[in-house]
Amino acid sequence: MTLSSDELQAAAKQHLWMHFTRMSSYNDSDIPVIVRGSGPYVYDDKGKRYLDGLAGLFVSMVGHGRTELAEAASKQASELAYFPLWSYAHPAAVELATRLADLAPGDLNRVFFTTSGSEAVESAWKLAKAYFKRIGQPTRYKVLSREYAYHGTSMGALAVTGLSAIKHDFEPLPPGGVRVPNTNFYRAPAFAGSSEEEFGVWAADEIERAILREDAESVAAVFLEPVQNSGGCFTPPPGYFQRVREICDRYGVLLVSDEVICAFGRLGYYFGAERYGYQPDIITFAKGVTSGYSPLGGMLVRDELMEPFLTGTATFLHGITFAGHPVSSAVALANLDVFERDNLLGNVRANEAGFRASLDKLLDLPIVGNVRGAGYFYGIELVKDKATKETFDDDESERLLRGFLSHALFEAGLVCRADDRGDPVIQLAPPLICTQEHFDEIEQILRSVLTEAWARL
Ligand SMILES: Cc1ncc(COP(=O)(O)O)c(C=O)c1O
Repeated sequence: MTLSSDELQAAAKQHLWMHFTRMSSYNDSDIPVIVRGSGPYVYDDKGKRYLDGLAGLFVSMVGHGRTELAEAASKQASELAYFPLWSYAHPAAVELATRLADLAPGDLNRVFFTTSGSEAVESAWKLAKAYFKRIGQPTRYKVLSREYAYHGTSMGALAVTGLSAIKHDFEPLPPGGVRVPNTNFYRAPAFAGSSEEEFGVWAADEIERAILREDAESVAAVFLEPVQNSGGCFTPPPGYFQRVREICDRYGVLLVSDEVICAFGRLGYYFGAERYGYQPDIITFAKGVTSGYSPLGGMLVRDELMEPFLTGTATFLHGITFAGHPVSSAVALANLDVFERDNLLGNVRANEAGFRASLDKLLDLPIVGNVRGAGYFYGIELVKDKATKETFDDDESERLLRGFLSHALFEAGLVCRADDRGDPVIQLAPPLICTQEHFDEIEQILRSVLTEAWARL
């Protein structure tokens, strides 16, 4: 069935329920329909080209249109399209688990596959609870995570998520989600210290204070992203993760590095924990592991966490039909081959300073308050007053982001995200193949659209 553009519009409006989307915003305008991709660009149904400044949704690491990944999928589907990991193994999952264990930092050695990031987070929390029950610490079930941090949408992952606005409709959620401060240095409270290092000590110590407040024996895990996406790319202050690791060790709490966005090159390393030099007990991953050519997620865990499940009748009573799907596993292996062959980590490390410098140029605009991030992952915070850092009120934010920016940036040929889950930010996370010419294009589009946005205010 090949539908015309008009037919696609009509059918999409009638039948498709888009995720996290205010459907009424398309009552009087077209739903964007993306039909193909090539490298860092995607094309809509009318043939218009867009620079994919968000890698889809932090996913397309190797870029679009890679036929070798499609061929890997086709070959695997012809050979063995499906078999579960429930009591069976298949070569692609075995090979991928081995390769990921090899790439992962320190002693992370076991891979439990899922199909998505939410399931990875859900699985990590379930493992933490089950593990502590098995080793005689059954009171540990709570999870600490940071304000505004997004960790997924299933009920457990939503309880870990720090965005209250997306939770209300679904309450009550599983009990045990506890919030600690994030590492937004741009808006650090004055009492938290004047240098980034001092702020990092305060933010890490807030985790210790929360553990003690909640009763250390009730806390199972701390979930942290290497660079927190939601709120706009909060990087960790120097020493923050080392201090958090010490605190977790002191109280016997597991450190989960949620790398659904930050793994597979986003920060110039296979895992974000490597960039910041800390050792997690669990890494959750998804998105970039296949560059989106097929869905896959999972968690990498230390052998010690699996030990209680290795003897007698013990079983980790958890599983997902499509987890570690053969086609997705084969695609992930082909994806990692591209990473190696094309030296994508090297490309990010060599070019991230250029990306940063291009975005920093925008600081001459009155609306740009802060540029922050690392690797190929940046947030640009928009402000009403640069000197005072005054932000927009809800109404202005609504008019600015939803009423103008999201649409105008897309119209100008840039896929990115204008987000107001915290203070208003524009988020960028392009494919890892991008180079200076793409950063220049991003800067030019942002400059013209943000200049117009300011004029309209
Ligand atoms: C840090 C983090 N964790 C978990 C998730 C949930 O992943 P998924 O949408 O694949 O369920 C996301 C999604 O963006 C994420 O950014």
